[in-house]
Order: sequence, then C-alpha cells, then structure tokens
Amino acid sequence: MSVEKYIASNKDRFLEELLELLRIPSVSADPKFKEDVFKAAEFVKESLQKAGADEVEVCQTAGYPIVYGEKIVDPNLPTVLVYGHYDVQPADPYELWDSPPFEPVIKKTERHPDGAIFARGSADDKGQFYMHVKAFEAMMSNDALPCNIKFMIEGEEEVGSENLDIFVKENKEKLKADVVLVSDTHMISLKDPSVTVGLRGLAYMQVEVTGPNRDLHSGTYGGAVGNPINILCKMIASLQDENNHITIPGFYDKVETYSKEYRQALNEAPFDLEAYKKELDIDDVHGEAGYSTIERVGIRPTLDVNGIWGGYTGEGAKTVLPSKAYAKISMRLVPDQDHKEIAKLFESHFKSIAPKSVKVKVIPHHGGAPAVVSTDTPGYRAADLAVQDVFGKSAIPTREGGSIPICSLFQQELGLDPILLGFGLDTDALHSPNEHYGVKNYFMGIETIAAFFKRFKEEVTK
Ligand code: BES
Ligand code: MN
Ligand code: MN
Repeated sequence: MSVEKYIASNKDRFLEELLELLRIPSVSADPKFKEDVFKAAEFVKESLQKAGADEVEVCQTAGYPIVYGEKIVDPNLPTVLVYGHYDVQPADPYELWDSPPFEPVIKKTERHPDGAIFARGSADDKGQFYMHVKAFEAMMSNDALPCNIKFMIEGEEEVGSENLDIFVKENKEKLKADVVLVSDTHMISLKDPSVTVGLRGLAYMQVEVTGPNRDLHSGTYGGAVGNPINILCKMIASLQDENNHITIPGFYDKVETYSKEYRQALNEAPFDLEAYKKELDIDDVHGEAGYSTIERVGIRPTLDVNGIWGGYTGEGAKTVLPSKAYAKISMRLVPDQDHKEIAKLFESHFKSIAPKSVKVKVIPHHGGAPAVVSTDTPGYRAADLAVQDVFGKSAIPTREGGSIPICSLFQQELGLDPILLGFGLDTDALHSPNEHYGVKNYFMGIETIAAFFKRFKEEVTK
C-alpha cells in the first residue's frame, strides 16, 4: 500500500486517537492539572511506541517531562528532529465555550466546511504534533520512512520551555539531526498554503504601582493623594505615541529594517483586510503608522497590556482610592531585539516615568528570542516541494506574530533552522474559547509531513 492510501484508509482511527489525546486536560500553567499533564506525556509515549519508534522514553525534568523517541533507519541517511508540545493553555473562561474544552466535538464552520475539531489544544499543539506521529506510523507501516526520525515532544511550551532549554543544551549528541521540523504555526489558508519563516520574540513584564499604604476613602483623600490606577493608566498610555510608536528609549535600536522589495514581497501575500475586520467585528485596524497589517504582525515589535487590575471591581459602587494597581504587559520582539535587554530598558523607563507619589515594582516574566528562517536550505525547499505535492501550489513564505522561543535555541545550540510547517489558521481561536482545528487541515498536514520526508531526503542527497 502507498503511504497516501494508508492515510486515507485509516482516517477514522487517526481522528479518534487525536480526540482521545484532547480529552486529557494537560494545562501546564495550572498545578491543578499536574496529573493530567503527566498522563498526556504517557499518551505520547505510547503513541510513539505503537507507531514504531525505538528508544521511547519519558525524560523527567525539574518540571514536566519531554517525550523522546527515534527511528534510525540508517545512520547514513539524513535525520529529521520533530518538535512539538503536548501541553495546552488554560481553557478559562469556560463559560465562553460553546462545548466543554476537553470534550472534543466536530462541527462545520464557514472556514472549515469539512468540519473542525473543537477542543483546547486541537490546533495548539496536540492536533499538529500528532500529525507527525501519524505520518510516521504511515511511513513505518509501509516500509517507506526515507529519513531517520527523532521526536522531542515537550510539556512546557506554554509556560516558557525553561526545562527544554536545559535538555537541549545537555543532549546535543542525542538530538543531532539535519533539520528540525515543527508544526505549531499557521498557514494563510488551504487555498493559499504558506510556510512560516519568522516568529516574533517576547518580553513579558508585570508591574505593580503602590500609592498610599492602604485603600482610602475616595472622598476624604481623593484629589490629594496619587491614585495608583489613574497613574498606572497614564504611564501605560505614555508608552506609545500618537503614531503608536513605542516610546521606551532604545527600544528600536536593534530593530531590523527591511528593503522596499522585501516589504513589497511580504505584502503580496493574499490578505483580505475587510474579511479580517469582519471576522473580528472591528470597524478599523490599529497599529504603528506607516506599516500594513501584515507588517505590523510580522516584522514590527509591539507593546500590549494583557491584563490590568486593582481597586474595587465587584457589584455596585464602592468609593475607594486603592492602594495598589497592577498590569501585565507583553512586548513582541523582532530581530535583532534581545528580550533581556528590552526587559531592562522597559524597567528603567517605567520607573523613570513614575511620579514621586507612587512606588513602582517591575517583575520580568518569561521571555524569548525572535527567529527568522532561511528559505535557501534543503529543509525549506523540501517543505515547499511537499506543499506543492499535496496542495498543488508553492508555499508562500510568511512572517508570523506568535512566538516559539525554543526555535532560536535550535539555531544557536544545534545549528539547525527549524522548518515551521504548520497547518492551523489564524482564525482557529488559539488560546481563546472555542479553539478548533480543521479536520481537512489535519489530514492534509499528515500527507504533507510524509511528503516532506521524501523530499528532504532527495534534497539532501542530490
Ligand atoms: N503555537 C504558539 C505560537 C504561535 C501561534 C506561532 C500562532 C505562530 C502562530 C505557541 O504555543 C505559543 O502560544 N507561544 C506563546 C509564547 C510562550 C512563551 C508562552 C506565545 O506566542 O504567546
Ligand atoms: Mn503552540
Ligand atoms: Mn500556544
């Protein structure tokens, strides 16, 4: 049987298995789900064993384990290292889901007329890394695995991959490969397949503004004592000017600028601004002056408040001048910004703009480096050819706004460019209620991955 036929005749089972994995609430951020995260690692281990991998192990770390497995067909053949993550984002707020996040259901949508799987982790990243397990099974079952393969599936991507960082540095020999293959990104659409060639980095900060030593009566003291929430809002507002340019001194110093030609090429990717606005129910987009939406997401840095709180937020009105105000602020970074440097610039600027009436604390959370992938490598060419094999069209190289911090580590520590061959869509509601993943995307992904292995071997050995 051919690999394609094998995939076609095992569709129901391939789907059922994914649904089973999606029923495990492996939320890495919330300790309440600790057992489930370990359970998901076991599931991955068993699935790799069943598919035919050798040396399968659940590698314990100081946090959640990394599942490793390999099949070395012939040491002289090229080796593909597959990376993915079995942890998922928290599903809150549950009440905004149309169906329970860990009880997957398949429903048709406008963008997924053949049905989409609704569940937390369906697109990010269980549905995507599991395509690799199934493509591997299909190749193994048909004696058609053209390359060696190594799997490294982690459980802490959504919380910053700190232990994977250590694992990669300590296991360079074990992880030795010719390319890293990752499906944890998006494509433009099934009609306009794309391969991601850039991801943004991230610097994530929490700030705490303290005014008086206790909550005060807002009549007795209001107007005479600095209100930390008012002040925090002013400070945050000042971080962007009227052109939505970030005002932190030095913030743009290392931002790479691009030629007219490069920007033009980026903007040639199919993008329907009207559909984009309609889908989000917004009357206009918003961003840095002088850049298109594609550029704002792909090649420009940002600063966003992710959450802000303090004071009284309960029922009715309580007249209070709060003692404290808080915010979580993230900055998406682009080459060659360094997240540690940006965190420092942020901290010193934020403190410098605080009036004397308040005290400011800045706590950096996790960060990550941006990554840019060359299109002039055997890996990229193989991805493009695989996309052509399955979609009948060449892949459009795109720069995405999300972050996978471990990608730059692969470049630095293993000397390997990650090939970001993802099959989700921007509209799949990652990290949001009603996350979903197209059934067709899942199967076309499996086929494309199998095609990649064939094409990669050809590209490397030609
Ligand atoms: N898979 C995403 C990253 C992503 C999403 C890349 C869509 C491209 C398109 C990943 O799981 C993720 O959510 N990363 C986090 C960063 C991490 C440090 C928490 C992110 O981008 O917020
Ligand atoms: Mn992901
Ligand atoms: Mn994610």
